Amino acid sequence: MDVLNLGMVGGGTVGSGVFHALQQNGELLACRIGVRIQVRKVAVKAVDEPRPYPIPRRLLTTDWRQVVEDPEVHMVTELVGGTTVARQIVETALRLGKPVITANKALLSAHGPELFRKAERHGTNLYFEASVCGGIPIIKALREGFVGNRIRALYGIVNGTCNYILTRMARDRAGFDAVLKEAQREGYAETPPDLDIDGHDAQHKTGILASLAHGIWIPPSKIRVEGIRSVSPLDLEFASQLGYTIKLLGIVKELGSADATDGETPLQVSVYPALIPSRHVLAGVQGVFNAVFVRGDVVGETLFYGQGAGKDATASAVLSDLADAALDLRFGSPRRRPAFVRQPNRVRVVPMDEVVSRSFVRLSVVDRPGVLARIAAVFGQAGIGIASVIQPEGHTGEIVPLILMLHEAPDGAVRRALGRIGRLPVVKAPPVRFRVESLD
Ligand code: NDP
Ligand code: HSE
Repeated sequence: MDVLNLGMVGGGTVGSGVFHALQQNGELLACRIGVRIQVRKVAVKAVDEPRPYPIPRRLLTTDWRQVVEDPEVHMVTELVGGTTVARQIVETALRLGKPVITANKALLSAHGPELFRKAERHGTNLYFEASVCGGIPIIKALREGFVGNRIRALYGIVNGTCNYILTRMARDRAGFDAVLKEAQREGYAETPPDLDIDGHDAQHKTGILASLAHGIWIPPSKIRVEGIRSVSPLDLEFASQLGYTIKLLGIVKELGSADATDGETPLQVSVYPALIPSRHVLAGVQGVFNAVFVRGDVVGETLFYGQGAGKDATASAVLSDLADAALDLRFGSPRRRPAFVRQPNRVRVVPMDEVVSRSFVRLSVVDRPGVLARIAAVFGQAGIGIASVIQPEGHTGEIVPLILMLHEAPDGAVRRALGRIGRLPVVKAPPVRFRVESLD
């Protein structure tokens, strides 16, 4: 059978997962695509490092150039991470006309447009299915499955580490730091994990999904990001009592129809922890699982679900790209449809301050008559309506929690009002606020 040689750079969680999956299912893959993929070399940082799956010593090198520049290597995986060496690896391979398969959403987010242009210039392709949602084939779905749809809304739980932490905190009352350590042990978290918990990994992925859905490159600077550090056990508990679950969501949502003057559709692209109705299917997505809810104008509502991080799930996505790359090399679809094609419906990313949503607010206030009136007055002056107020019983002491559900209001107005409320002498800690998404 026809054989193609694969050069791998990175043999850690994902890299060793890919090596193992090729051993496990290489024959099956070869039967299905008519080409056998053979690992020729694997570059790592230190050959003696323990790996989730073993890689034979004879295949290992510490010089990635030996792998990428080997004339016998036909295609390259970049499974290193980061944006420095990884960028050099990808650029070198593309310059040599070799297809590259990457799981590196940080790299795509920082340098996507120039890397895709480079691939095109050198008559090859950059494949990135593994960069978003681990094992869920969401890139293929958006690019191919929904090619006939305009994407009206997309809500994604796209970070496995954050979903794992939020699930364990809500379900098992586990502490943030301990659960983060578990996620790191399982190989889910980025290095450093701040990329996950501050929302940047989700921002990178949401940018890729938004760009695919709307045909323009949406850089991270246009995507509002808030991570999960501000979510406390108290918030999870109060949200649950109100019938909500807190999830870190990537949101790509058309906010109306095209503006009459410039013909552009306003679009929200953001990442933040949000309250979603506990009865919604996304609320049931637990642990390291991810899910993407897509609403297309032809297809209606669809849901994609699967493990969003980890060696095996991510390896599955890399294998799918390897198959595409091998088929492209052998049977030529030399230049795949570019990833980001300008579409007739133009979109404009709306500044977050203008986005309108409902809010959940938790305040730590002095337990004294008249406090609520002062807070309500600030919201009233800002034109923000209060839908409900809860002062849970059973909290003793001078400082007690006060929960408010706010009616829809522009983000900027809520932010400014909370700034004023936070400065009131009766408010004893910075206000905590999460947006409420009905996912309609
Ligand atoms: P790991 O840290 O587990 O693996 C990184 C690999 O790169 C290691 O094998 C390391 O070598 C090697 N490496 C580092 N520097 C160099 C270098 N200069 N030259 C050669 N090799 C080098 O990371 P992951 O496998 O978790 O992540 C890889 C990529 O996949 C990242 O972009 C990540 O964002 C992405 N990703 C990760 C997922 C996951 O669940 N972990 C899921 C989806 C995407 P050594 O082994 O010797 O240390
Ligand atoms: N750190 C990422 C996550 C890995 O937890 O989702 C998968 O992209």
